Amino acid sequence: MNDTLRLLHERASCRAFADRDIPQNILESVLEAGVRAPTGGNLQPYSIIVVRDQAAKDRLTELCGNQRFISRAPVNLLFCIDWYRSRRWAAMEDAPFAADHSFRHFWISFQDTIICAQNICTAADSVGLGSVYVGTVLECFSELRSMFDLPLGVFPVVLLSVGYPLSKPKRRAKFPQDTVVHYESYDDPGDDELRKALEAKYQGKTFEVTEERVQTLRRVCRAIGGDELVGACMARIERDGAVNMAQYRFGLHYAADRVCRGNPEFIAKLREGGLEIVED
Ligand SMILES: Cc1cc2nc3c(=O)[nH]c(=O)nc-3n(C[C@H](O)[C@H](O)[C@H](O)COP(=O)(O)O)c2cc1C
Repeated sequence: MNDTLRLLHERASCRAFADRDIPQNILESVLEAGVRAPTGGNLQPYSIIVVRDQAAKDRLTELCGNQRFISRAPVNLLFCIDWYRSRRWAAMEDAPFAADHSFRHFWISFQDTIICAQNICTAADSVGLGSVYVGTVLECFSELRSMFDLPLGVFPVVLLSVGYPLSKPKRRAKFPQDTVVHYESYDDPGDDELRKALEAKYQGKTFEVTEERVQTLRRVCRAIGGDELVGACMARIERDGAVNMAQYRFGLHYAADRVCRGNPEFIAKLREGGLEIVED
């Protein structure tokens, strides 16, 4: 295996950072790996806000669900879709421009931004840094826009906390390759095969039955599948003497009744930020 493959096979998110700064020249060479990433039409419709200021990092921690590693990381990178720069370019050159009103462009620029972020993530690993994405920027779009003076058309996508790891981060188990890779056409696994893959990944991990978990699962199941699902879920918990991983993930962690709420609000936030990708 070459060094790049080894790096990619062994990577893991890092949430414990040493109290050590990242030299500017190292940061810049890592950032350059992002700038070199592929983008649709080579348009590079993203911007990256580098946050080193402690007060700003503390505020980010607060805004992003009190994830303490954000404050402790020497550098946080806020990745944003940026159609503002392209709009200005078009205006300067008397060219027509509507990318910030296009779902197609949004779809591609979201990918462009994440691909850039992931190049940076890998580059950071390659120089002995560690990093973790923070997706909870989703909860504070407006605050981030005003905190970092983002013009209309510049919209936060994800944060990456970067720093030197305190210790080697533990690798998380993943699905075996043949679960997620399909040659030529989608190969739908049978229940037994899928169960085996899930067992390989989660090793039968379960969660303690507590009153709070049961009450939450009752609420979520009722909202999604009515009394029938409540009955089935409770019977399963009774039978297993535990809350299983799927119940935990979709009923408690990403509670199914809550994750579907707020879509109109998210679209309104995009609009507020200058991305009018959905028409009324
Ligand atoms: C888009 C995205 C958002 C994420 N948001 C968070 C987050 O808010 N907090 C966190 O601790 N980890 C976050 N993560 C990291 C995941 O939890 C992590 O990638 C996953 O558990 C797999 O672990 P691994 O990266 O070590 O393989 C996020 C990852 C991605 C790709």
